[in-house]
Amino acid sequence: MSRAANPICVALDFADEEMVRSTANAVAPFAGVFKVGLTALYGAGTDLVGDLAKDRPVFVDAKLHDIPAQVEGAMTSIAELGASYVTVHAAGGFDMVKAAVGAAGAGLEVLAVTVLTSLDDAEVDKLGFAGTTEDGVLRLAERALDAGAHGLVCSPLELAALRGRFGDAADLVVPGIRPAGAGADDQRRTLGPREALDAGATLLVVGRPITAAVDPATAARRMLESIAAR
Ligand code: C5P
Repeated sequence: MSRAANPICVALDFADEEMVRSTANAVAPFAGVFKVGLTALYGAGTDLVGDLAKDRPVFVDAKLHDIPAQVEGAMTSIAELGASYVTVHAAGGFDMVKAAVGAAGAGLEVLAVTVLTSLDDAEVDKLGFAGTTEDGVLRLAERALDAGAHGLVCSPLELAALRGRFGDAADLVVPGIRPAGAGADDQRRTLGPREALDAGATLLVVGRPITAAVDPATAARRMLESIAAR
């Protein structure tokens, strides 16, 4: 994926199908990609993926992490939905990522999640990762890319290190995007949208700064304007 004309991917994190659809409609003029994650997939179901995909490329944030056979089975079904991007956890290991890529087939880009953006260094340390958070991200990234992943999900704080190590070989998709003045919510490794693009992001995943705003369309438009202005 080269950087999309509009790199803003809006995370439609609602369990209610009508909320997913109405928010998608409202932000569509200012969104490059729609993302449905665990809240929408389990709450509203997978049928809406095909409908959303008529409007914009859809990112199914399935975050698969299981034995290779299970992930292959799930990915075979996800590949039927009409999505353009899907996630697996890099921590599932080489064989799992490889099975996911094989089952996804052509046209569905598999992104490997490295270390969740909701984890800070202290929690990463307690979880037993050797070295810094960045070390962990680089190790997971290398293994996932070797297994055939098309891109990575990382925090904007690791973009420079990942671009330094892998160049343009991988798409780098970054959640944890927070415009100046926005609350962090449960995110810990965050950066502004313009800064993340300048550091090498391919796609910016933005949820609550847009979807929890009083007027999501205006919030999305402002973010688009902020990244267009240099
Ligand atoms: O509301 P907010 O902007 O924090 O939403 C971020 C979105 O990105 C959520 O849908 C979340 O599932 C997703 N995500 C994340 N961190 C990752 C991978 C995905 O926050 N490492």
